[in-house]
Amino acid sequence: MRPITQAKKLRHVRYDVRGPILAEAERLEAEGHKILKLNIGNTAPFGFEAPAQITQGMIHHLPDSQGYSDSRGIYSARTAVAQYYQSHGLTETTVEDVFIGNGVSELIQMVLTALVDDGDEILVPAPDYPLWTGAVTLTGGTPVHYRCDESNGWNPDLEEIEAAITDHTKAIVVINPNNPTGAVYSEEIVRGLVDIARRHELVIMSDEIYEKIIFDDAVHHHTATFAGTDVLCLTFSGLSKAYRACGYRAGWLMISGPKHEAQDFLEGLTLLANMRMCSNVPGQHAIQIALGGYQSITEYVVPGGRFYEQQKLASRLLNEIPGVSCVEPRGALYCFPRLDPEVYPIEDDQAFVIELLRTKKILVTHGTGFNWPEPDHFRLVTLPDTGVLTEAIGRIGEFLATKRH
Ligand SMILES: Cc1ncc(COP(=O)(O)O)c(C=O)c1O
Repeated sequence: MRPITQAKKLRHVRYDVRGPILAEAERLEAEGHKILKLNIGNTAPFGFEAPAQITQGMIHHLPDSQGYSDSRGIYSARTAVAQYYQSHGLTETTVEDVFIGNGVSELIQMVLTALVDDGDEILVPAPDYPLWTGAVTLTGGTPVHYRCDESNGWNPDLEEIEAAITDHTKAIVVINPNNPTGAVYSEEIVRGLVDIARRHELVIMSDEIYEKIIFDDAVHHHTATFAGTDVLCLTFSGLSKAYRACGYRAGWLMISGPKHEAQDFLEGLTLLANMRMCSNVPGQHAIQIALGGYQSITEYVVPGGRFYEQQKLASRLLNEIPGVSCVEPRGALYCFPRLDPEVYPIEDDQAFVIELLRTKKILVTHGTGFNWPEPDHFRLVTLPDTGVLTEAIGRIGEFLATKRH
């Protein structure tokens, strides 16, 4: 038989968070090594549980979850999402503006497939959550990265973004709170991003999956709040992180702005939703339960709470390592430290993290895996408890000591 090759459209698609580094980790595990996997923001393996009411609700609804649902999602989940945004000042939001998906991941791919033509340029942050760059590439678009400024708390540089806009630019992606940097954008920045979209008639896509994981005085601003009625804003969020329910695959898309101008795009999106029938129905039943009632996430993000304490500890310990600097994250579940190139002259950061993996049995993700242009960063997931984190960062420190110039 002739060799069966992958489709050419996949050639330039990368998703390194689960790429060669994970394959090497699995190879080592098969040899009997115990690997501490700090490469992916999966809450359950680190002892986090979804609120019991969510799981009980899904069990309760299992018998009536056997059929396909409306392809946009079950009515109660879509209503709950609409009401959530209404209560956050987006009073015009209706059930018609909401699509439920198998996590934000599926909705990102559906939206980009419905929107992007070959050659369209989509502005994506660098560093980014690499699904965005990968999905833009897969749909035939060109990701144009706008660099976030580490020396300014990883905020985007609005002038640089505007300068990167061409006749082919169709949309701008915002990830706030940000993965991997932990930045939480001020009102001024979010307004600035929306104004750029307004001036250049761009669609704005706002990935807000970490909206409830913010620390200290950080405030999350929904991009849609400032987009008003004249900028098409696609807001993505879901249960994976704040409700510790990654595996339930429950996420949503909320559409706001001039929907009448976007009818054609929305028809395309509905077609794609129809083609995949519907998202997992038990997971959809979790949404209304999650969004109503007591929000246990508030306990995790304040002093004494696990997300808060782990994040603070990780960033402090990383900063104590010579030649390592980490902008203190203000939200999300990661640290994205810089390795001073004068101290650690790294040429290939993927090879570097594979060597760390082989010698110290810790899996982190290299910065270029997040489309960061230089090989001088890595991302650490801060989900393990403080004891394990201390041990892990200690081992990273030992490894780095052998690499110091
Ligand atoms: C910024 C960002 N968006 C989306 C996702 C995927 O979320 P979901 O589990 O809803 O597919 C992640 C997962 O880590 C993420 O970090």
